[in-house]
Parts: sequence; structure tokens; C-alpha cells
Amino acid sequence: MANAEKTSIRIGLLGCGNVGAALASLLVDPSAHETLVRRAGVELELVAIGVNDPNKVRSQESWFPIHLLTDNVDAIVDRDDIDLVVELMGGLEPAGTLIAKALASGKAVVSANKALLAQRGKDLEELAQAQRRDLAYEAAVAGAIPVIRTLRESLAGEAIYRVMGIVNGTTNFILSKMTAEGLAYDEVIAEAQRLGYAERDPSADVEGYDAAAKAAILAGLAFDTSIDLEAVHCEGITKLRSVDLAYAAKMGYCVKLLAIAERIGDGISVRVHPAMVPLHHPLASVDGAMNAVFIEGAASGPIMLYGQGAGGLPTASAVLGDVIDVARNLVASTYQQPPRRHASLAMKATTDLVSEFYLSIEVLDEPGVLAKVADVFGTHGVSIRSMEQTGLGDEARLVFVTHLALEHAVAATIADLKNLREVEAVGGIIRVVGNDQEAQ
Ligand SMILES: NC(=O)c1ccc[n+]([C@@H]2O[C@H](COP(=O)([O-])OP(=O)(O)OC[C@H]3O[C@@H](n4cnc5c(N)ncnc54)[C@H](OP(=O)(O)O)[C@@H]3O)[C@@H](O)[C@H]2O)c1
Repeated sequence: MANAEKTSIRIGLLGCGNVGAALASLLVDPSAHETLVRRAGVELELVAIGVNDPNKVRSQESWFPIHLLTDNVDAIVDRDDIDLVVELMGGLEPAGTLIAKALASGKAVVSANKALLAQRGKDLEELAQAQRRDLAYEAAVAGAIPVIRTLRESLAGEAIYRVMGIVNGTTNFILSKMTAEGLAYDEVIAEAQRLGYAERDPSADVEGYDAAAKAAILAGLAFDTSIDLEAVHCEGITKLRSVDLAYAAKMGYCVKLLAIAERIGDGISVRVHPAMVPLHHPLASVDGAMNAVFIEGAASGPIMLYGQGAGGLPTASAVLGDVIDVARNLVASTYQQPPRRHASLAMKATTDLVSEFYLSIEVLDEPGVLAKVADVFGTHGVSIRSMEQTGLGDEARLVFVTHLALEHAVAATIADLKNLREVEAVGGIIRVVGNDQEAQ
């Protein structure tokens, strides 16, 4: 039954940093007020903002509601007159406990906290379901890009077999710059930090952990299953060399850090790693700090969503969409059922996957070396699609692209190559994806 008496939805905001301050501005901006009320069908009233330091300057706008700032976040969650808690603090705790408390006391929740949702999303969804309240998190993956709603609603009937995303703007910025300017990783990360594209401690981005949390969330939605974040295979970009990116470009590829969720036989693979993507693939055109998610379904065919994956305002835009959705549901005395997790699909080990590989090997420039190297590939059943040789003084660089091969066979090949007297180093090892665009 609709809640006809509800004339306003009272909102408690936890966190007023990059995203929270942008959301607060969007919510209280006098010029947008009437439109918001019409769209939500109800007044959206921001009544409290929890932060660490209420005295910090958050906005230059005279109408910014600094009088709502408080450092007592527990009190916001405990208030009986709040309908909706928006969590934009980040981190696992105290955010997790605060969300659980808000749901347990009958409040709806909106969050953008990918790390928390990837680790504890299932428990929080169960709590939301038990309370018949919304837990919405569109902004947790790829900022302004509406990928959660697309998977949950638009593709609810689709047999999805693969989702591949460029879901971390920092690493995409770094890789785009390394490729365009031939610079080394260390040089570009320093510049990215100077420009504010990378954190002072960039490990969550460059080691792939941020993308892994997003991959887990996307995989859970695409495959109706609960994903153990610990089981998501994760490789970052710190070992990538500009020389390999240059070879990739020469061969018609670019290198991207991809979050991949893929249906394989009776199981799934969820992983994050750098990958060579053919230049004709839609993901290859996603440069700089932009994000994109490429979804392949049996009936739908390929779909690509592209946009700003981070930043205060773009992310707040997605949060505001959730706030309006949840407000409408509260007025209608309804909620959106949490995603189904009935499939319990087993996670395939990465070593059992099949992939094409780029391998760059530095060898002594002697007669017979190529035959010995090719022999090692053959011993492990790894067949070579293309090979290029470049002279480097007394040495030579051999660059191979393999046909599809089992990962463990490629690992065994690399181990044996390293034992050859003629091999100085196996430098670049990068998976190649997207040559097929069909399910394996
Ligand atoms: N930034 C993005 O582009 C982006 C994109 C997608 C998703 N997200 C997600 O959105 C969330 C917020 O990100 P953000 O970039 O806005 O973070 P942020 O700039 O670091 O802001 C965090 C806010 O939370 C407050 N806070 C943190 N811990 C607190 C505590 N224990 N008690 C009270 N207040 C606390 C901080 O207060 P003070 O200001 O007083 O320190 C600050 O206002 C995160 O979950 C993030 O993963 C961010």
C-alpha cells in the first residue's frame, strides 16, 4: 500500500568528501529543487551529514548546508526521523557496522562502497531483504555508468556469458599515457599523482584490488552467484614495460587492465589482469581516465556502456539516481528485491583457463636459438601464431603471440625457457583477449 502521508524523505548522509560533498550540493541546490521533488514525487530533505571534521571547508556555495555537519555518525544512524542513509565514507569499518545498523532499524541505504559491498554485500542484502528495505549501490562500480541497473534490470532475462570492464580510471590513465608517450610506469605514476589521478598510496588501483572488488560485484550480478573476493585472481600493472606496450601497438593491440567475469562450462572465472585488446575491439578506444563495461549476452549480443568512472560529480549523479529510486519506493511502501544468488557457480582456477599470450624473450644472438626456444613451446603443446625478432647488439628479442593455450602449459613453457642457457630473460607476459568475442 502506498504511503500517502509521506511528504518528504529525510536523508542522513555519512561522509562529505569528493562524492558526499557533490551529492549534498546536488540535493540542496536551490535551482534544482523543484525538478528533484517532481522526479522523486516527494521532498528530499537532507537532515544530517556525518564527517570526521565538521570544521573543514566543503564548498564555496553560500547555500551549502554546513549547519548539518556533525562528527557523530552513530547518532545519525540511530535517529528515528531518518528514512534513508547514504553511506559515502568508504572503508570497511565503521561503514559496514553503520549500514547494518541503519538497515536493522528499518532505514533504506544507498552506498558507493565497492570494497565493502564486494566483501559483505551478501550479508547486507540479506539484512535489507529481511527488513524489506532497499540497499542500492549503482555508484559502486564505474561511477556514473549505469552498469548495476543494466545487469539487474535491463538484462534480467539475459544469459550473459562475459562481462569485461575498464573499471579503474587511474590505471587506464597510466596505460594510455605509457602507450602514447612511450614512458615507463614509474615516470607516469609520478605524474598521475601530481595531477591527482592517483592516490599517494596507489596500490589499491595499480595492484588491481579496486578493479577486483568491482569484478566481484559485476560477476555476482551477471551470474546470480555469491563471489568470494579472495578467490578473484588479481594482477596489476606495475610490472608492465613500455617496450611491450610499443610491440602491442605495432601488432595492432593496446594494453588495458581488465576486470573480467566469464561463464566457462559449468563454472565461472572472475579475474583482473592486464590484457592486450585488438584495436578494433570497442574497449580499445577507451582512453585516459574513462571507464567502460562490455557485456556479451546470448540473445542481446554485445553491449558497451561508456562514461566517467570516478570523480565527485559523476559518482554523485549515480548516487542521486539511487536516492530518487529509493525515495519513490519508500513512498510506495515497497523495495527492490536484492539480486538472486541461487546459482552457486564454482570459480575456475586461472591455471585451467585458455588464453592467447604475448611473450617477449631476450636471448643470445646465436645460431640455433630460435629452434631451441620453439622446441620448448612445442614440448608443452603451446602453438605459436606469430613471431618477430629484433636485434639488440649481442642479444636479440623474440616476441611471440601464441594460439589459445592452457595457462598452466604457458607457465610451464616460461619456466623451461628460463632454464635455457640462451635465454637471458622472459620480459613481457601479457594475455591477449577479445580476438573472438564469442563464449569459450
Ligand atoms: N571518489 C570517487 O571518484 C569515487 C568513485 C566511485 C565510488 N567512490 C566511493 O565513494 C565513497 C566515498 O569516496 P570519496 O572519494 O568521496 O571519499 P573521501 O573524499 O575520502 O571522503 C570520505 C568522507 O567520509 C568521512 N569519513 C571517513 N571516515 C569517517 C569516520 N570514521 N567518521 C566520520 N566521517 C568519516 C570523511 O570526513 P572528513 O571529510 O571530515 O575527513 C569524508 O568526508 C567510497 O566508498 C568510494 O569507494 C568514490
